[in-house]
Amino acid sequence: MWYNLYMFHTRDTLKVNQSGHLEIGGADCVQLAREFGTPLYVYDEAYIRRMMRIYRDTIRKEYDGNGMVLYASKAFSCKAMYAIAREEEIGADIVSGGELYTALSAGFPAAHMTMHGNNKLPHEIGEALDAGVGILVLDARSEADLVEQAAAARGRTQDVLIRINPGVEAHTHAYVQTATPDSKFGFSVASGAAEEMTRYVLSKPHLKLLGYHCHIGSQIFEKQSFVLAVEKNLAFMAEMKKKLRFEAQALNLGGGFGVWYADGDPMIDADGYAAYLSALLSAVRKGCAVHGLRLPYIYLEPGRSIVAEAGITLYTVGTVRDLPGIRKYVAVDGGMFENPRYALYQSKYTAILANRAAEPPAERVAIAGKCCESGDLLGIDFNLPAAKAGGLLAVFSTGAYNYSMASNYNRNLIPPAVLVCDGKAEYIVKPQTYEDLVRNDALPARLK
Ligand code: LLP
Repeated sequence: MWYNLYMFHTRDTLKVNQSGHLEIGGADCVQLAREFGTPLYVYDEAYIRRMMRIYRDTIRKEYDGNGMVLYASKAFSCKAMYAIAREEEIGADIVSGGELYTALSAGFPAAHMTMHGNNKLPHEIGEALDAGVGILVLDARSEADLVEQAAAARGRTQDVLIRINPGVEAHTHAYVQTATPDSKFGFSVASGAAEEMTRYVLSKPHLKLLGYHCHIGSQIFEKQSFVLAVEKNLAFMAEMKKKLRFEAQALNLGGGFGVWYADGDPMIDADGYAAYLSALLSAVRKGCAVHGLRLPYIYLEPGRSIVAEAGITLYTVGTVRDLPGIRKYVAVDGGMFENPRYALYQSKYTAILANRAAEPPAERVAIAGKCCESGDLLGIDFNLPAAKAGGLLAVFSTGAYNYSMASNYNRNLIPPAVLVCDGKAEYIVKPQTYEDLVRNDALPARLK
């Protein structure tokens, strides 16, 4: 059965215990729900650390340590994640003043951060420079001007990369593809825009161009797409060396490795992800040899593959609506406010009843959230034992882009998150309160 297979695949993370309850990282989910309530995001710390280490060590072993893994913190940004990344000696990819602030609050070294964004705001650029963010990835000519001015005003130079669009089509949802010709990100290599931007940045006295960045998309499984992106980057680097005598010393290959969500997705373990990275690194070595380039310092920005499968979400089952011949809706105390991914991307998920985890599925149901709209679903094809009000539902692989995209829609509270280590759970994001919801509301005197 699929879930036996999944339990086996993630055997250090998920188990069914003797009471027939789901366990994550050694913690019984029924106990977790009792102690912390639902909905609840639960993360297994060991999984997160294992993934950070496998990427870090692969670069150390297979590329002489000439590179750095940057955790793409948009996948799940909170102080604890930056603290873990710091302990594991990896860097972080940040995309906003808010992520920068969170990382700094956790004592994360700014020098090990890379800042992205297709429209970094002037104040964010200022904050990044004041903090000493290692690298800014430029995504517009006007942004080069802003960073140049900000660096000049501070009497220093800033290390930068240019985000290029190598034109690689990756097989993933259109909203998370980034390197096709029609994209809001990056300078197209094919159109000559990347070359022109290179000339422009090289002319700026307070910008130090280290090289290039590309990110072809997210939730991608084909190694070939990544390898193709490497080849295109290196060919472009070789061209710039020939034409402009500019030899890039750094290449950031972005993130994007896919994870298991549901039947049909490959299950990749830590060694499997190491193999993805190895394939990229050997493509870099090979391409550099072909083009006569020095081996660049390599950055990699995995987000999803570090946290998605480390996380589950626990829910309490509420109403069950059976529409004979049509569908059965099992409603839970969460929904699109804490997981908008089905509504946005029709993402698939897998769930079990965590309090009856050993029971085989008996029916196919839709899981509905509690928001006031029909599209508020976690999915429509979950195989579960007959769910009853009060049951505990666990949805797998919810660690990436769930909490980070949560909202207070319908003034629902964003659920807390706990981190499990050796069977013990602690808050890493505390519960919101109703008071938090009105904290920033303002009532003009005339309305009082
Ligand atoms: N680097 C850059 C420049 C990125 O834009 C991203 C993701 C990453 C790295 C990390 O990619 P990952 O390893 O996580 O695939 N909200 C969507 C995902 C959007 C991804 C945005 N960029 C989702 O829920 O699927």
